Amino acid sequence: MHTPVLLHESIEALNIQAGKIFIDGTLGSGGHSALVAEKFKNSVTIIGLDRDKDAVKKSEERLRTLDTNIHLFTESFKNLDDVLGKLSIGTVDAILFDLGISTDQLENSGRGFSFLKDEPLDMRMSGEGIRASDILNSWDEPAIELILRGFGEEKFSRKIAQEIVERREVKPFKTTFDLVNAVLKVKPKSWKEKINPATKTFQALRITVNEELTTLEIGLEKGFKILESGGRLVVISFHSLEDRIVKNFFRDKVKEQLARQITKKPIVASKQEIETNPRSRSAKLRVIEKI
Ligand SMILES: C[S@@+](CC[C@H](N)C(=O)[O-])C[C@H]1O[C@@H](n2cnc3c(N)ncnc32)[C@H](O)[C@@H]1O
Repeated sequence: MHTPVLLHESIEALNIQAGKIFIDGTLGSGGHSALVAEKFKNSVTIIGLDRDKDAVKKSEERLRTLDTNIHLFTESFKNLDDVLGKLSIGTVDAILFDLGISTDQLENSGRGFSFLKDEPLDMRMSGEGIRASDILNSWDEPAIELILRGFGEEKFSRKIAQEIVERREVKPFKTTFDLVNAVLKVKPKSWKEKINPATKTFQALRITVNEELTTLEIGLEKGFKILESGGRLVVISFHSLEDRIVKNFFRDKVKEQLARQITKKPIVASKQEIETNPRSRSAKLRVIEKI
């Protein structure tokens, strides 16, 4: 089960009140929504979205047992406006995006998110669109290099792209370990990085397959648009590319005097949380309030 990151900090930042409407744009296992439901019972309307149908199913099982007023959708948060249209709701009071993938997706989905397990190279959160293996087997070398550099900030992008293209001539990429082996050829295990040599390559492919950065930009715009004045937008990001988009978006809204920053610096996990949940180590929570 996914352990929610910055759980209490994010619920506090959302400033939810009885009678209000809350959108959980990234349900996952429903951890954040479950706390809102437990705290406010059915006095708050929860609209929950996830682009992964398994996550919605799991959250539904969990949240249905609580006394709550909830609407769940298998949908990307970039289509927030369509979801509200279906419910005939115009504006909401609080929105949470807890970005990235969940522990369930990493550990149990069988979709190749983890470089520690030999699984098909899929990486699609929604189960739709191109797979990671399609990219590795068909994109040209400069395009692969570009995503490794741009979305993985991988210093060895050129050499890894070269290795991928050479290897696929012999045998197409099928599983995660095919890719791990290609990366290890360029960056052997002795490579002095704190993180696994394949981390950045996997991050780059996941971002590309799921169009995570453009989706985030659209989600932030649409989310801010449907927010009531006084409403809060809270985002938890897990790497610098996401965080930069959130930081710049919030800064622009403050500059345009459309929002006020609630905390100057991002909220990060306590030492204690990092000890019990190492995934929280890279989390950054930012929050703005619409004026
Ligand atoms: C970190 S988990 C969320 C965990 C959740 N807050 C909890 O406590 O259980 C991120 C979830 O967001 C989903 N997700 C990522 N991008 C999304 C998007 N654009 N629209 C909807 N869901 C998305 C993923 O499928 C994943 O289930």
